[in-house]
Amino acid sequence: MTEKLIEEKLNKLLEHIDDSECQAHYFRLISTLLEKGYFPGLAEVPVVKSSISHIDGEHGLLMYRGYPVEELAENCSFEQACFLILNGDLPLLVEEDELREKLLSQIYLPDDVKQSIIGFNRDLHPMNMLSAAVLILEATDKESAEVENHKENLERSICLIAKFPTIVGTFLTQNPDFNLGRQFKSFAEYCLFCFNPVLADDPGYIKMFEESLILHMDHTMNNSTFSARAVGSSHAGIYALISSAINSLSGPLHGGANERVVKALERIGSADAVPKHVENSLDHHQKIMGIGHRIYKTYDPRAKYFKERILPQIFSQKKKIQAENPDLWNLYETAITMEKFVQDKLGKKNLYPNVDFWSGLFYKAVGVPTEFFTTIFAVARVVGWTAHWIEQQQSLGGKIYRPYQLYVGFDTRHIVK
Ligand code: COA
Repeated sequence: MTEKLIEEKLNKLLEHIDDSECQAHYFRLISTLLEKGYFPGLAEVPVVKSSISHIDGEHGLLMYRGYPVEELAENCSFEQACFLILNGDLPLLVEEDELREKLLSQIYLPDDVKQSIIGFNRDLHPMNMLSAAVLILEATDKESAEVENHKENLERSICLIAKFPTIVGTFLTQNPDFNLGRQFKSFAEYCLFCFNPVLADDPGYIKMFEESLILHMDHTMNNSTFSARAVGSSHAGIYALISSAINSLSGPLHGGANERVVKALERIGSADAVPKHVENSLDHHQKIMGIGHRIYKTYDPRAKYFKERILPQIFSQKKKIQAENPDLWNLYETAITMEKFVQDKLGKKNLYPNVDFWSGLFYKAVGVPTEFFTTIFAVARVVGWTAHWIEQQQSLGGKIYRPYQLYVGFDTRHIVK
């Protein structure tokens, strides 16, 4: 059959679907199947119905429960956004206060877990440490294998969200009691405290940090959320699935890109050296970290928020930063040049900076060691992972994830005796 004929038949087959976006989506799916016989990387394959977040990749929009992420970042607290994602709607004032109290009362880790974290080899990557520490927490929650109770799932999720920054802070400071003796007014303040206790006294930085966390809380069926759902679909407990999600997030093609972006900018060294570096990478078919996205075909709205609303609050004070932290200023200038150059080169391929391109610069300005960048992403994304787990538990007829492979190995053969 000719391509034209296939296209006509497909269009006829799909004409009863009212939603044009859905129609175009199915068209691409069936075409891929006809052309390749399978879906590499599950690209575009719908695996779940979810009401948590939505991306409009053509227009660069991200919504949590219907609210644009920029509006949430600008106007909401961590607690409000977290409540919204977990429960489906924004909280009443009393519910927000209740969640804040719950989170802040559960930041503490059992002694044995603290000691295990301190006992880890310091060279362990913080993301691997985080994944291991989350698994260790299971020992203190033996009921977690019973996964059917919605109320308990929600409580367990909040408890885990509360402990994420503490796990990272314990490893970063190597002090099991680093968070004792101080009262926190908000969970965002506590999160920032775990990464930089000095800046946690500054309301401006707390607000920026809170915005950065809200921007990262959920992002539809990304690789780590898919991992969480896949592991959860076997009815494994929350610690197992969240630990897997952390491992997925650590990869350079996913959340691990923020660390790689800043390391690349440091290696490049100056704005002048950008063109040579980019040309060289592209000539060698190496991906530029922090660029491109499977869903966005335009500027990632989270990247835009960092670039236009968070970073200017820091980098508008050019003279101050140049005097106090010239390396940081140099990184910023290198990133600006890099973005321009990459967009000239790759814009026609619909490749734009993603959130990881700009977030790393913010974390650098907050004084976070580069290897710890992706743990900040995880401190936020655990909200989405747990929300997806809860949604999955509630959906009727949830099936274990078990896709299909096309076998391309040997036919049956036998041991020759
Ligand atoms: N630098 C250079 N080229 C890139 C690129 C990048 N960062 N990202 C994608 N491309 C190119 C590919 O080389 C490919 O080109 P081709 O069609 O000429 O072969 C095309 O764009 C499609 O790339 P592909 O890897 O198939 O896209 P994807 O949808 O599978 O991957 C990402 C999406 C995010 C994994 C990918 O863009 C990437 O690896 N980016 C860098 C890592 C990163 O920043 N990750 C964080 C994501 S939030």
